Amino acid sequence: MNGIGNVVLLTGAAGGIGRSIAHALLGAEVSVVAVDRDRARLALLAAAAESLGGRIETLVCDVTNQPAVEATAEAAIATMGRIDALIHCAGKDAPSGRAWEESAEHWRDIIDVDLNAVWWSTRAVLPHMISRGSGRIILISSVAGRIPTGGASVAYNTAKAGINGLTIALSAQVEGSGVLVNAIAPGPTGTGTAMTSTERVAYRAMYPLGEGGPEPVARACLYLLGPGGDWVSGSILNVSGGRYRG
Ligand SMILES: NC(=O)c1ccc[n+]([C@@H]2O[C@H](COP(=O)([O-])OP(=O)(O)OC[C@H]3O[C@@H](n4cnc5c(N)ncnc54)[C@H](O)[C@@H]3O)[C@@H](O)[C@H]2O)c1
Repeated sequence: MNGIGNVVLLTGAAGGIGRSIAHALLGAEVSVVAVDRDRARLALLAAAAESLGGRIETLVCDVTNQPAVEATAEAAIATMGRIDALIHCAGKDAPSGRAWEESAEHWRDIIDVDLNAVWWSTRAVLPHMISRGSGRIILISSVAGRIPTGGASVAYNTAKAGINGLTIALSAQVEGSGVLVNAIAPGPTGTGTAMTSTERVAYRAMYPLGEGGPEPVARACLYLLGPGGDWVSGSILNVSGGRYRG
């Protein structure tokens, strides 16, 4: 990808959106260090990726465990020689519910997985990227970070809004060091928590530009990693098929 994004550390690689991003990267002959806590699905990803071109290495890691995330980034650098880009896609849906009736544990869990972990992986790659004077970081947020969405809990919306704030604040600190930080805010992609048949019918009808699935998110990553992304810093890219505006 024109010298940048040739080695990508991708968290949540075994999930629906992560797998789509991994396939797109490998198809563009980008090497991928695929990170997830789900060992079995990582192995499936690696097996399916054999025919796709680029090199894939897999590392099992719980991204909420900061020391483990640091060790994973070090292992990726040791194996690949460098990390050009981080795409943090690990995350978890939260069921909808009335915020004041959710448990404290629910709040801690969602903030831990959907926000704290985003910072642990970002923090783990930053010194390496800053010392090399280049890097790209793409954080997978959600339209739920900017608008209330019927299907998400307030903790999830809050975590995604936190990712947007992290993107804006951090990008200003590191772009002078050649590290570009951006977020992608997808609308529902049909991945993650399984939908009921009624929900799926509503999901299919909600997009002015038609149902997209996870692939548009993967294509947005290729754009931000490629030469087209070299003047993009601190943005939150809405990828929702026209469903959400702004
Ligand atoms: N699915 C959607 O409609 C949608 C819309 C907007 C944003 N997003 C965001 O996109 C990202 C990916 O969503 P998805 O639909 O692919 O979900 P998914 O459930 O299919 O995949 C998530 C992946 O993250 C991994 N993961 C979760 N917690 C982890 C942890 N602690 N350590 C390591 N790995 C962990 C899971 O094992 C899984 O492979 C999430 O951040 C989600 O919030 C999803």
